[in-house]
Amino acid sequence: MEQGIKALTEFLDSSPSVYHAVDNLSQMLKNAGYTCLSEADDWNLEPGGNYYLIRGGSALIAFRIPRTAPRGFLMSASHADRPCFKVKENGELAGTYTRLATEKYGGMLIAPWLDRPLSIAGRVLVETQTGVEARLLNIDRDLLLIPNVAIHMNRGANDGFAWNPAVDTLPLLGGKDAKGKLSALLEREAGGKILGHDLYLYVRQKAAVWGLDEEFISSAALDDLACVWGCARGFLNAQDSADIPVLCVFDSEEVGSNSVQGAASMFLETTLERICSSLKLSLPRMLAQSFMISADNAHALHPNHPEYADPANAPVLNGGVVLKFNAAQRYTTDGLSAALFRKVCARAGVPVQTYFNRADMPGGSTLGHISLSHVSVPTADIGLPQLAMHSSYETAGTTDAVALEKVMSAYYGCAPVMDSSGFVL
Ligand code: CO
Repeated sequence: MEQGIKALTEFLDSSPSVYHAVDNLSQMLKNAGYTCLSEADDWNLEPGGNYYLIRGGSALIAFRIPRTAPRGFLMSASHADRPCFKVKENGELAGTYTRLATEKYGGMLIAPWLDRPLSIAGRVLVETQTGVEARLLNIDRDLLLIPNVAIHMNRGANDGFAWNPAVDTLPLLGGKDAKGKLSALLEREAGGKILGHDLYLYVRQKAAVWGLDEEFISSAALDDLACVWGCARGFLNAQDSADIPVLCVFDSEEVGSNSVQGAASMFLETTLERICSSLKLSLPRMLAQSFMISADNAHALHPNHPEYADPANAPVLNGGVVLKFNAAQRYTTDGLSAALFRKVCARAGVPVQTYFNRADMPGGSTLGHISLSHVSVPTADIGLPQLAMHSSYETAGTTDAVALEKVMSAYYGCAPVMDSSGFVL
C-alpha cells in the first residue's frame, strides 16, 4: 500500500469520534514542535513560532508566524464530525433484551448502520478530587449491533422503507439482565464517576483499500476526515510562506455548525484578531490579502446512477481534487477563487475537476459558506470526490486522497498578492 494511503488509514482507524480525530491532530502538531496555546492566556507570539489551540476538545486551529511581516492569512477549513448516532442520557433500556437509547446526529444514510458490529467512542467528563476532567473514551471491542427485521416480517423492506429512529435503529446491547452493565463498563474505562458525556456510536469495520488496482479506499467518516488529513499534512509539509498559514478543523458541521466549536462560532475570527493584536497587525488589512479553502468532500459520479450528476460537471473517483460551484453561493467558489485554486493545483501537478448540482436538485452546504459570515475573504469550496456520502462506510479514490496533500502543501507555501483586478501568484 502506498505510504500516504497507509498513514491515512491509520488516522481514520484511530479516529472513531470527533474528539479522537482532534486529539490525533494535536499529537501530530506536538510532534512537529507546535506549542499548544490556551484561549484563557495572554499570547506572546514570536516570529518563526508554530502554534495551535483546541476548543471544546473537538475543534482546532493551528498557525505559523513567518519571520518577516506577513501580508495575509492562508486558511483552510474542514470538519472532523460525522453523521452518526449519539448516546442518550439514561441510555440503557431494560426489557426482554437490553437496548441502548440513541438519537440521530446529522443526516445519515440509515441502512448501512444495521447488521454490523458497532461500539461507542467520544469524551466523558470524569469527577476528580478537585473538579471534573474531560477524557477520551473508546470501547475498543464489538459491543452492540442494530439488527434488521427479517424480510419475512417486513415484506416492504426493499420497497423504500421509512426508518423511525425512535424504534428501528435502537441497538441491541445485551440480555434481559444486562441493564446497568454499560454504565459500569463506561466508568471502569473512564477511570471514575462520569458526570457528563458526548458519546457516539461508530462502526467497527476498519478502513480498506480495494479494487483491481487498489484504486479505492473505504472507511467511516471519509467526509470529512480525508480532507482534515490532507489539509493537516499539507499544512505541516509546506515550505515557509510570507503569509500566515492557518489550519482550521471544526466540529458540528453535520448539524449546522452552530456550536461553540463550530464554523458559525467566533473561534476563527477571535483567533485571527488575537494573532493580529499580538503581532501589531491590522486585521482588516490582513483580511484584504487573505484566502480560504473550504475543504469538504464532493459527490462523485455514481457508477449505477450517472443521471443524478450534472452532465458537464460530474467528478469521478481518482480524477483529481474537486472545485465546487453553486450560483446561490451555498458553495462559495467564484471566478477569482476558482482561478487561484487552479493555479495552486497546477503548481502541485494535480488535476482539477468541477462540481455543480444538477440544476433541478438542491445540494448541501459547506463550512466556507458559514465561516464567511465572520471572516469574509475569497473562498474556494473544494473536496475529494466520493461515493455514498453520509453512509456509515464511504468510498473515495486512493490517488485523490494523496493529491489533496500535495495541493494543500503547494497552497500553504504560496503567498498570493490580491487586489480587485486579480492576483499575483
Ligand atoms: Co462534509
